[in-house]
Amino acid sequence: MDSSKENKENIVESAPRKKRALSCIQPTGIPTLGNYLGAMRNWVAMQDEMDCAFAVADLHAITVRQEPANLRKQIYEMFALLLSIGLDPEKTLLFVQSQVPAHAQLSWILSCHTQFGELSRMTQFKDKSAKHADNINLGLFAYPSLMAADILLYQPDYVPVGADQKQHVELTRDIAERFNNLYGNVFTVPEPYIMKSGARIRSLQDPTKKMSKSDTNQNAYISLKDDPDTIVRKFKRAVTDSEARVYHGEGKDGINNLIEIYSSITGKTFEQIEQEFEGKGYGDFKIAVAEVVVETLRPIQQKFDELIQDKAYLEKMMAQGAERASKIAQRTLNKALKKTGFVII
Ligand code: TRP
Repeated sequence: MDSSKENKENIVESAPRKKRALSCIQPTGIPTLGNYLGAMRNWVAMQDEMDCAFAVADLHAITVRQEPANLRKQIYEMFALLLSIGLDPEKTLLFVQSQVPAHAQLSWILSCHTQFGELSRMTQFKDKSAKHADNINLGLFAYPSLMAADILLYQPDYVPVGADQKQHVELTRDIAERFNNLYGNVFTVPEPYIMKSGARIRSLQDPTKKMSKSDTNQNAYISLKDDPDTIVRKFKRAVTDSEARVYHGEGKDGINNLIEIYSSITGKTFEQIEQEFEGKGYGDFKIAVAEVVVETLRPIQQKFDELIQDKAYLEKMMAQGAERASKIAQRTLNKALKKTGFVII
């Protein structure tokens, strides 16, 4: 080993520990451009700065009824997508939740430290039970204690999530603090890490609403799997206003949304974009937005198409991730079991 390398390693060793981050995504449908620009792309940027772990939250998916063959397909797809967007399994821990049994185990312990009243107040539970009135199952109610287990097993400092998940992370903090107060320090109390830029990409058909993959109108969202023609067509149909001048301003929700998408991809400021499209119509602007979106998604789609053909490779990567994740998770689980009074053999 040459001395410069030795030096570098010493520096690494004496540097403060990297912060840790963990997040999960449910394998329910292909994410939208909004999910990508608002969350997933930031995960890729974070992996150089922090010790990151990202998982496919398949156990959460069955809180609403899933068709088994379709669930299986979506687990492969979501895992392949995590790799396709540029998460690097050499740097970042990538795994599938159900393949690490400690999640379900810790979830039980945490359930016994979570109050009925707390879970009743969760807005996602209220929304989902209104939407699936015929299937308000125990898992849907207990969803946040499984999510708390996902998080606390890995002792992260940060949990990067969209604003809609903040309440669940706050509850996780409460559960962790309660547990630590009862039994001594077991869990790091994590902070939600709410992503700012590009976080609020809106529907192309009703820009007062968030872009959502569950929208019944397919023209309202760009799916990460949409081909170039579809992307161009959807942007051409995007709702705008009658002023025909490209600038970011009040009452221009549709154009504001397109400017925000363009800005979040190109890194240009709103002013630069206004200058670029000065004297041009909405038609030109929409094409330009569609083009940068197509080019952003192209390499992701290419990688995805390649990976999804190769189930053996995906399973190998899943197995590696599950093994690494289990080591970390088991350590925390054992500590929690021991402190709670269980016999570890
Ligand atoms: N509930 C999250 C969502 O629907 C997914 C999720 C499950 C999650 N476990 C998690 C997010 C742990 C962050 C951390 O978006």
